[in-house]
Amino acid sequence: MRISVIGCGYLGAVHAACLAHAGHEVVGIDRDESRARALQDGAPPFYEPGLQELLREGLDAGRLSFTDDPRAAQGAAVHFLCVGTPQMRGGDATDLGALRGAVASLLPSLRPGQVVVGKSTVPVGTAEEVARTLRAACPEVGFIWNPEFLRESTAVEDTLHPERMVYGVEGSAAGADGSDPSGSGTAAAAIAALDAVYAPQLQDGVPRMITDLATAQLVKVAANSFLAVKISFINAMAQVSEASGADVDDLADALGMDERIGRRFLDAGLGFGGGCLPKDLRGFRARARELGADGVVDMLTAAETVNESAREDVLSLAARMLEDGRETTGAGIIGARIAVLGATFKPGSDDVRESPALALAARLEEAGAEVVVADPQGVRPARAAHPGLAVTDDLDGALAGADVLVLATAWPEYRDLDPQHAASLVAGRRIVDARGAMPLARWQEAGWDARSLGRRMPRADGASAPAPSSAAPRRSGAAPE
Ligand code: UDX
Repeated sequence: MRISVIGCGYLGAVHAACLAHAGHEVVGIDRDESRARALQDGAPPFYEPGLQELLREGLDAGRLSFTDDPRAAQGAAVHFLCVGTPQMRGGDATDLGALRGAVASLLPSLRPGQVVVGKSTVPVGTAEEVARTLRAACPEVGFIWNPEFLRESTAVEDTLHPERMVYGVEGSAAGADGSDPSGSGTAAAAIAALDAVYAPQLQDGVPRMITDLATAQLVKVAANSFLAVKISFINAMAQVSEASGADVDDLADALGMDERIGRRFLDAGLGFGGGCLPKDLRGFRARARELGADGVVDMLTAAETVNESAREDVLSLAARMLEDGRETTGAGIIGARIAVLGATFKPGSDDVRESPALALAARLEEAGAEVVVADPQGVRPARAAHPGLAVTDDLDGALAGADVLVLATAWPEYRDLDPQHAASLVAGRRIVDARGAMPLARWQEAGWDARSLGRRMPRADGASAPAPSSAAPRRSGAAPE
């Protein structure tokens, strides 16, 4: 099938490459000429494991191409809208400028019987507006809202093997009986066309749900909000564990054994970041406020507050360690050299958007520390985002002379750092594991003051050491879910 994919960021580029992999003839269209050219050259402008190989496969087979020319959409049977929907400058609401531009650029190419599929994350009500615009230009065009749930760093796998597919179609009766609520004879044909696009996934047995447009738009922001609230919940539990002497990992393990709760996304740490969760939470909150859904507004505000407080908690912990048990004033931070290990919002990605690691680094610097940030992939974007901050991919250089180390992103090479080797470089043996990913007992044995918020630590003198399970890293590497 001939397919156009409009917008070639994380979502669109991966989607286009995966569709070509399934045998479709795909053109990716991005108004950013340099991005389109990089993709056409088989060199994605961002780091996403597995994408480069898929791009090469599609380009070499002649099934995949990229351009900045919107006319390339002509003749495609299905058009996917995959443009970014960032946060509005100076506000929480979602900026729909790129989406409206993409729709406008598509109108001249639309022909009866073709299908437009929206995948971007949008405030509920947007799809209806897009449908009206499309229908005004071409009444017999099919339209489906089909949200995307891919995660950065596993985007290819998530696209090839999704957990579910949601089709939002016009009219509330759409899902129930397969009738054609638009009355234009296009809804059933549109569903059939999208089924053909996704034939490999459907043959794999991926559940496909048909619902109305509003629900399909909400599924995405509701899912991201739920995940954000889940992370903030366990981070709030880390605060209470710290204050009461409990262990947040044991707590998460025990909570997670309840199938209604589940263990995934209950890893306490520095909080959530990235290009999706924070902005989707704010965009959803802004839309909920407009709709008068105050419960959503309050809940999401609480989740955001907890998320941001994790950085302050780490700063206070580092200050306490530097002040060595004396009354904490925060002054210990001033002039201390702090190595922040990690800049990206999670391992396996070079994305520093809304990165908790970088926010922490900036906050430590603001509090008077001399900060150096190490990251294996994110040096360039981190320097661009924070021009004043010292960022390096030279881990040993970052460790040299440090008074405190803070693990802020659980890259495997940082998580598995050798405490003896690190001890030979630093000025003071202090480490904060802000991701709960390191084997801190080993660090303590090597003479380090090693701590993690809300986590019970073995006593440094070895006396009455707690159960060994608390000392071992329990997570397979804090690879984000
Ligand atoms: C997220 C959603 O998971 C995905 O479904 C949606 O399509 C886009 O947004 P992504 O932004 O790639 O994906 O990141 P994700 O792996 O979900 O992690 C989000 C953040 O939460 C990261 O900063 C991560 O470190 C943090 N996190 C995750 C935790 O702090 N604790 C956890 O237990 C899980």
